[in-house]
Amino acid sequence: MREYLIEDLKPGMITAAAVKTQRGQLIIQPDVVLTTALISRIDFYGIKSVQIKDIETDEPPAAAPAAESPADASYSQKVKSSQAFQNYQADFETRTNSLKTIFNDFINSGGTVNKDALLRETASLIGSQKTTIEFFDMLHNMRQDDDSTYAHSLNVALISRMIGIWLKFPEKDLDTLTLAGLLHDIGKTKIPDEILNKQTRLTDEEFAAIRQHPRYGYDILRNQPLDSRIKKAALMHHERCDGSGYPLGLTLDDIDDYALIIAIADVYDAMTAARSYREPLCPFQVIAEFEKDGLQKYKPKYILTFLEHIATTYQNNRVVLSDGQKAKIVLLNRNHLSKPLVQLDNGEGIDLDKSPLYIKSLI
Ligand SMILES: [Fe+2]
Repeated sequence: MREYLIEDLKPGMITAAAVKTQRGQLIIQPDVVLTTALISRIDFYGIKSVQIKDIETDEPPAAAPAAESPADASYSQKVKSSQAFQNYQADFETRTNSLKTIFNDFINSGGTVNKDALLRETASLIGSQKTTIEFFDMLHNMRQDDDSTYAHSLNVALISRMIGIWLKFPEKDLDTLTLAGLLHDIGKTKIPDEILNKQTRLTDEEFAAIRQHPRYGYDILRNQPLDSRIKKAALMHHERCDGSGYPLGLTLDDIDDYALIIAIADVYDAMTAARSYREPLCPFQVIAEFEKDGLQKYKPKYILTFLEHIATTYQNNRVVLSDGQKAKIVLLNRNHLSKPLVQLDNGEGIDLDKSPLYIKSLI
């Protein structure tokens, strides 16, 4: 076993100990094979180093069981058993397959991307939820089923459109933003599946190839009759305002606004994705993570709008606190959205901002 800095981690390495945030939140269990997505996730949480197994001498990895609290399961169960969710799930699957066909058709034929066909794929999914809470309930519970680039692209398109609505973008711009979300990862189609889905250690060249997908995406789209913001979103969605992103290391003023929105949707989708190696994060845990370094990495106006709407969506929801007590959210704290005022079932109020307790799950 040996400690590796985040920049030295490679897909295929195996965790020797649990990876936790400074606050002790479990991110990855021991004995898990790292993937590119997992390394990004560790990076996202600002974790500097990870204990890695020495493959030659340590035991082989075992699949880690999913850790899901009963309260999460019951909330998730409620959503999943609803007719609305089952309809959404069936529709989502159809749309994901269509998206795959549209992408491959236009890349292989060298023809023009069919914007209308792309937008049609999102239209029914957008219209199927009446409220924001329904939208996020659908989104959070779909994640277990399909982890493909196409499913991710569809999610990012829908989340980005929602952010555009919150930012009061005109309808025409919402369509452009949705297209930018759908196409942001199209460069991944240039990366062989055996690299994208590789379960064992990636070589330095393979790892570098994956990080080229924004450039590949831009190359695919550059001569298409598309709004330039869509092309820039493909190129710049991994850039971060503090210059810590890739491929160009741009800072706030040089990153296109649409790319800044896609970046938030992209990370939110990755963070809330249910995985076999960790429990799904509840929205307030996601907010807490964004509150740590979100203002440096993302455009403040966009990230604040996004977090405020997510928190507002779940206002009045019943929750489980970190000590197991059940409570209801009664008042949001605009300066610390992950720490609202809650009321316990016995009537006692707790200001979570002045308490070590935090929201662990929704009920
Ligand atoms: Fe990407």
